[in-house]
Amino acid sequence: MRSFHLLFVLLHVAFSTAASTPTSKEVRDGQTATLITFPTQPTDTGLKQIPDAAHPFIAPGPNDQRGPCPGMNTLANHGYIPRNGIATFEEITLAMAEAYNLEINFGAFLVAANMLLRGNPFVNKISIGGVSPLVPPLPGNIGSNVTGGLAKHGGFEGDASITRADVHIGDNRNFQDILYDLDLLYLGKFGDNGPDGNNTVFNIPTIIAIKQHNIQMNQAADPEFHFTPTRFAAAFTEISFFLDIFANGTTKQSSISTIGSFLRNQSFPQNWHRAAAPVTGDMLANTSLALYEAIPIFVGHNDAQGNFVPDTPPPAPFDANPQCGFYYDLFANMPGGLANTTGVFKKNVDFLSSIVSASVSGPPCDQPLLPFGPPDN
Ligand SMILES: *[C@@H]1O[C@H](CO)[C@@H](O)[C@H](O)[C@H]1NC(C)=O
Ligand SMILES: *[C@@H]1O[C@H](CO)[C@@H](O)[C@H](O)[C@H]1NC(C)=O
Ligand SMILES: *[C@@H]1O[C@H](CO)[C@@H](O)[C@H](O)[C@H]1NC(C)=O
Ligand SMILES: *[C@@H]1O[C@H](CO)[C@@H](O)[C@H](O)[C@H]1NC(C)=O
Ligand SMILES: *[C@@H]1O[C@H](CO)[C@@H](O)[C@H](O)[C@H]1NC(C)=O
Ligand SMILES: *[C@@H]1O[C@H](CO)[C@@H](O)[C@H](O)[C@H]1NC(C)=O
Repeated sequence: MRSFHLLFVLLHVAFSTAASTPTSKEVRDGQTATLITFPTQPTDTGLKQIPDAAHPFIAPGPNDQRGPCPGMNTLANHGYIPRNGIATFEEITLAMAEAYNLEINFGAFLVAANMLLRGNPFVNKISIGGVSPLVPPLPGNIGSNVTGGLAKHGGFEGDASITRADVHIGDNRNFQDILYDLDLLYLGKFGDNGPDGNNTVFNIPTIIAIKQHNIQMNQAADPEFHFTPTRFAAAFTEISFFLDIFANGTTKQSSISTIGSFLRNQSFPQNWHRAAAPVTGDMLANTSLALYEAIPIFVGHNDAQGNFVPDTPPPAPFDANPQCGFYYDLFANMPGGLANTTGVFKKNVDFLSSIVSASVSGPPCDQPLLPFGPPDN
């Protein structure tokens, strides 16, 4: 069971911050390649009020992309990433460091994996929502003739969400009041007392109860319920954000008004402060471990009779522990054609893959991988 703890532990990788030419002359299918680089580590990593005056809330317009991740939607609504919801690797990594004080190597891992799963690493663009004309299909239509964005099912987006429906039975992209209301029943039961009243502060028992309920409800309601290795890691990590990232940095409390502001309004709360020190993969793994130890769930799917059964394990050595299974599953869901490229395209794919490997691979699966998924995923 301890092995899950390793999921996010191996993040201590130093990447070069060498300056580089951001664009190149490499053109394919009318798209111009952009070389992806590791952004310079911010030096200021302390307590700070967010947003600053330069980042007011502005509601999205009809053509702005928003998606399943409230944290990303909030960054876009405040202009920490482009308000149209289309951003580069560097923009999202730096915005998460600035606004959420997310430790930069862990942030870079999240963006690298999503760029390979759901973005266009040739032009260095990903949509935080759905398909957008601003993110063209990969050159040669590798993977698909459209680039999906974060809302496309099967990457980090998946079943048993806190606030979105499973894709097969409802809206997997937009906030669902009814689902969040159900979550709040567990806050009322297990939450700590705080400035908003009794039982209004999220804590470990509350998020365990919420996540367990999300899983049980969707396993029963969604005939195609699938808790993949990637979704397993994502579901436990995203609810850990409640306590580790969305908490008011000065009080370390995740009150009902604070979490409501992020989830419902997709806006920073009034007078909110980011965490006082960088939030590391280790901290999130600790919180995830508490969920993992309390909730009897495994990687699996519903069979034709509606019984939840284990998935076929990955090949050795990736079957050794959940972390290795997650590592394998990530690359198994990235279009395999990404590994068969040249020039700047190949440099970008290799660079992003190496970030994912450095963060997730570990004994006995500590070997580099490149995308090897089926053409359309
Ligand atoms: C993409 O391919 C699908 C299926 O082959 C086709 O129906 C669709 O029209 C194509 N879309 C574009 C934008 O080319
Ligand atoms: C809140 O909880 C405290 C401590 O248990 C209790 O004394 C108080 O009466 C409660 N307040 C309300 C409004 O229920
Ligand atoms: C959400 O936004 C509305 C309108 O600005 C505001 O009245 C409400 O208090 C906000 N809710 C939260 C939980 O921040
Ligand atoms: C955060 O904590 C500070 C200090 O207690 C407080 O002034 C501020 O209102 C709090 N903000 C939120 C969003 O809870
Ligand atoms: C993780 O939890 C363990 C045990 O509670 C603790 O010793 C360790 O300091 C925690 N690590 C982080 C990064 O929070
Ligand atoms: C790699 O790409 C080239 C050029 O597009 C193509 O001819 C070749 O079949 C591809 N090889 C594999 C293994 O996909």
